Amino acid sequence: MAMKARTAYRCGECGAQAARWEGRCAGCGAWNTLHEVVDAARPSPGRGERPIPISDVSSAGWAAQPTGVGELDRVLGGGLVPGSVTLVGGEPGIGKSTLVLQAVGSLAAAGSRCLLVSAEESAQQVRARAERVGALRPKLWLLPELSLPAIAAAIAEVDPLVVVIDSIQTVQDPDVDGVPGSVAQVRECARGLIDIAKRRELACLVVGHVTKEGALAGPKVLEHLVDTVLSFEGDRHHALRMLRAVKHRFGSTEEVGLFELAGGGLDGVPDPSGLFIGEDRAGGPGSIVVPVMEGHRPLLAELQALVVPNRNDGSNIPPSRSAQGLDQRRVTLLLAVLQQQRGLKELPRADVHVSAVGGVRVNEPGADLGLALAVASSFTRKVIPPDVVACGEVGLGGEVRRVAHVERRLREASRLGFRRALVPRAVVSAPAGVELQRVATLGEAIEAVR
Ligand code: TYD
Ligand code: MG
Repeated sequence: MAMKARTAYRCGECGAQAARWEGRCAGCGAWNTLHEVVDAARPSPGRGERPIPISDVSSAGWAAQPTGVGELDRVLGGGLVPGSVTLVGGEPGIGKSTLVLQAVGSLAAAGSRCLLVSAEESAQQVRARAERVGALRPKLWLLPELSLPAIAAAIAEVDPLVVVIDSIQTVQDPDVDGVPGSVAQVRECARGLIDIAKRRELACLVVGHVTKEGALAGPKVLEHLVDTVLSFEGDRHHALRMLRAVKHRFGSTEEVGLFELAGGGLDGVPDPSGLFIGEDRAGGPGSIVVPVMEGHRPLLAELQALVVPNRNDGSNIPPSRSAQGLDQRRVTLLLAVLQQQRGLKELPRADVHVSAVGGVRVNEPGADLGLALAVASSFTRKVIPPDVVACGEVGLGGEVRRVAHVERRLREASRLGFRRALVPRAVVSAPAGVELQRVATLGEAIEAVR
């Protein structure tokens, strides 16, 4: 049966289709981006698969290939799965190129042939980075190229186990409209790469830039296409970098990888505890250490609060609030609970600044109790003893609730020399050397450290 070709319109920016021409694309809102295309409506050939009972599907699992970069393998649940595509997203300059280069450098050192496609930087630039991070390996091939067909040809020639595309926003498919980085280009190039990865059973690591506002012009449209989405994060002013899995078809998204950016690339931080406690803890009011969970790892983080009582000069300037590495909404909520406590009624009129030391991001309820105590300590100018940790969620009524993995958190605190722990009532056992102080309410906790 002959298929009738029909005229349609397609947006050069986002690829959305329209039946008739319109000045503004209904898909992305861009103006004058629709142009005519002939859409030959053809039947899809399919993959030639037949339906089978689910129990007849082979149960052979996938064998992940460790990259040798320990913290990356931790997040991936072992390593890269052949035939899969992993997107590594993050802000420009955070260290994505360094991370993927170290991964293929390590794989190549172990004997696996890898291909690094640099669509952003020259071969010399990549070589210079490879020298810095120790990734100059004969089995690591390099291709400075942006055209998708040329990349496909190089993959066929080199026949690698792992391919890196750095970055997806600079690759271009000449058969697709739009400039590199446009939604249509990013999506179609990713589709092409996914197809190659599945057919050739190779693992593909794709770098994608994400802007501060989270406008993942490219990566967002890819999230549902790829198997795994990793997010590389960190504070520019600190060397610490965190790698999280946002989506992972082959395992859990719980683990977090920790790195420090140094002169020779990214160093894994397998034992992060202590990293987030100021070496020179001032010993003044407003500071406390909390044991938090990052994935399956407990780590200790120092929280600091600085409360500046209102000047009372009659001006109507609202008090200022800031939170670094902590969830602003959580802080607001805790301040509301705190002002109900004895002696803290004036808190709403004070300026309150809180931060987590060392660039770590603490956003789990287990840090509530410590954060509330730090604020109270700064306000009352009463120092919290330096060997105390606090752990518990604080409810709206000021009640202190149990959190998960309390025993693991306390063991870690004990290992680092903390001797007293403020914990919710329900906690039964303490590791050797740690004295538990069980509290039912925030008020009791404040009294306990006074
Ligand atoms: P890069 O991997 O190029 O970031 P992205 O690909 O995410 O844009 O690296 C960014 C920063 O890392 C850059 O400012 C320099 C720094 N860096 C180091 O500190 N040490 C190193 O060994 C390397 C290679 C980079
Ligand atoms: Mg880069």
